Amino acid sequence: MDTAALKESWELVAKSGDEVPLYFYSHLFLSHPELRELFPISMTAQRDKLVGALGQIVSNVDQIDDVTPFIQQLGKDHRRFSVVADHYTAVGASLLATLRRFLGPAWTESLANDWAAAYGLIAKVMVEAAEQSGDSPAWWSADVTDVQRRTLDVTVVQLRPREEFRYAPGQSFAMEVPQRPRLWRYFSPANAPRSDGSVELHVQPVDGGQVSGAVVRSLQPGDTVRLGAPIGEQLTLPRQPDRDLLMVAGGTGLAPLRAVLEQLDRRWEVEGKAPRVQLFHGSRMAWNLYEHDYLSLLASRPWFSYTPVVSDDPSYPGSCGLVGTVAAQAQRWDGRLVMVCGSPAMVLHTVEQLTAAGVAPTDIRYEEFTGGNHHPSAAPVAAGDNQ
Ligand code: HEM
Repeated sequence: MDTAALKESWELVAKSGDEVPLYFYSHLFLSHPELRELFPISMTAQRDKLVGALGQIVSNVDQIDDVTPFIQQLGKDHRRFSVVADHYTAVGASLLATLRRFLGPAWTESLANDWAAAYGLIAKVMVEAAEQSGDSPAWWSADVTDVQRRTLDVTVVQLRPREEFRYAPGQSFAMEVPQRPRLWRYFSPANAPRSDGSVELHVQPVDGGQVSGAVVRSLQPGDTVRLGAPIGEQLTLPRQPDRDLLMVAGGTGLAPLRAVLEQLDRRWEVEGKAPRVQLFHGSRMAWNLYEHDYLSLLASRPWFSYTPVVSDDPSYPGSCGLVGTVAAQAQRWDGRLVMVCGSPAMVLHTVEQLTAAGVAPTDIRYEEFTGGNHHPSAAPVAAGDNQ
């Protein structure tokens, strides 16, 4: 298989932008109308989640050994979209038709064979993983027990999954709310697992965010939501749990880091030890520092320090500026493992500031934000919905 040709051809196709998903979905829904109901009601090429990922993953088939666990997880996760083995043939055919359409004369017989073989390999791993997922549910139903607007911008939601829902602090999961069927968006629990299994979410409406908007405006106690399997390892505690940490959060990007803080605090209460942690939490205005009381209280622990940072109000008496700049300039962070979570712009800016200040890029962890897809090169929206 000529894997370089796969990558090159996908790069060429991707240059046609929104035309590509538009053609793919038209082909798929015309040839298999029954598949339309698996996808969200409102579909625009701009919010395509499948086609971009499909081309990228299949054209990188030479890395399959490195990404097999991810592809298996993707296959298991596709059960929440009601995808079954038969559907893979239809999607594969529409993928090939799309490539053919956009590659024109560059679409040769050998390239067609290579794409078909690569798609077959990935699809096989996904289908087998889905078939072998045993007792693990395709999704978890969870009851909404409370919805409270904590500040002007931040709504706190309490959920109670009906079955045991195990996650590590720092992970994320996709959630579908009844007001927006089949639109799944990633959120992160803001708490370490509790004995009653309940999960707390912090939701900030984002421009055009259909799911976050629905959560803030219409979700109510008594509603039932669906949760996908928890994923993500960038913001979970590392194998060496004693390594000192620097945490930088923007807005509700605090959620997964707060869950890790709860986990560390429990350990401190039981074992009397925890690594040193410095958290910078940034928001535009001081009233959106929505966990100020909790974090100020936690700062009485010898292992934890907390700096609130406000960017858009120069009259704020504490630290002012962009949280990434303030964190990077506060001191040298040699040896610390850094966890960053917030909007894509905030993450990008913080990583730039920290690396410019001498922090090794390998010491900085964050979940990438590329349209909500979770992939080695595309990870979940760790704390909200950016579509
Ligand atoms: C090699 C095969 C496939 C790959 C690599 C793939 C990959 C992906 C990825 C990465 C996502 C985004 C997931 C997320 O955000 O959590 C996705 C979404 C989705 N996939 Fe697949 N997929 C494949 C096959 C299929 C098949 C056969 C179907 C059946 C029709 C399907 C239906 C969907 C649906 C309905 C979504 C959600 C779309 C949306 O929200 O707009 N996929 N896929």
